[in-house]
Amino acid sequence: MNTTIVETLIETTKDFSIEETMDFLANEYKDKVVFSTSFGQEDQVITALIAKSDVAINIFTLDTGRLFQETYDVFHKTLKKYKKHIEVYFPEASEVQNMLNEKGPNSFYDSVENRKECCFIRKVAPLTKALKGNSIWITGLRAEQSENRNDLGFFEYDANFKIIKFNPLLKWTLKEVEAYLEKNNVPQNTLHKKGFLSIGCEPCTRAIAPGEDIRAGRWSWESSQKECGLHQK
Ligand code: ADX
Ligand code: SF4
Repeated sequence: MNTTIVETLIETTKDFSIEETMDFLANEYKDKVVFSTSFGQEDQVITALIAKSDVAINIFTLDTGRLFQETYDVFHKTLKKYKKHIEVYFPEASEVQNMLNEKGPNSFYDSVENRKECCFIRKVAPLTKALKGNSIWITGLRAEQSENRNDLGFFEYDANFKIIKFNPLLKWTLKEVEAYLEKNNVPQNTLHKKGFLSIGCEPCTRAIAPGEDIRAGRWSWESSQKECGLHQK
């Protein structure tokens, strides 16, 4: 059933631009299309496209409580520039409190299990709330970001969150993303110029050296699969 819907969406939109596809989705799934932004470069392109075309897509962000100040700065600038509401989802205070009371504030460095617990409380549970009742989830995933993401499709059924994902920038290169941001004067995280490409929570993100993988700076002390549970890839 869901695979048929995904196949139909791929076929219907195959000659559409990103704006046309978003417009089509917003009409087809009224008030049930959401875009999640972490204010990364790809997400800023998508926010600019949504704002420019004034399409009925709601934007939300997961504020984990551990983000960089630079991320809040770009969040603030984005609100000012586009005057488009961005809904904030925060982790349950009691769950964060319990975790910190039991394990201290930096438990994520102690084990992969603890790290996943923190990601679950601060990201996955709020994401579940944010996606509830929606039909389409737009993300800024790109194939080039990691080997894992290489075989993703423009539309995918996400069995975890039981929703259809749309990845409009899937085939964009980093150069194309950067060129769009520059040309359109889109607010950007100042950390990008300091060697941070993929940016998540402050304690779990470091800058990368030239030639390193785009996501090498995420949970860099781990040799695990480097995903937090938002995406399986
Ligand atoms: S993650 O799985 O490692 O955290 P990544 O940073 O690559 O994800 O971002 C991929 C996409 O996931 C983003 O384009 C965005 O759609 C979504 N995303 C990641 N982090 C957040 C966040 N904090 N709030 C909202 N969306 C997010
Ligand atoms: Fe916690 Fe780090 Fe995951 Fe952020 S990235 S939710 S701080 S473990």
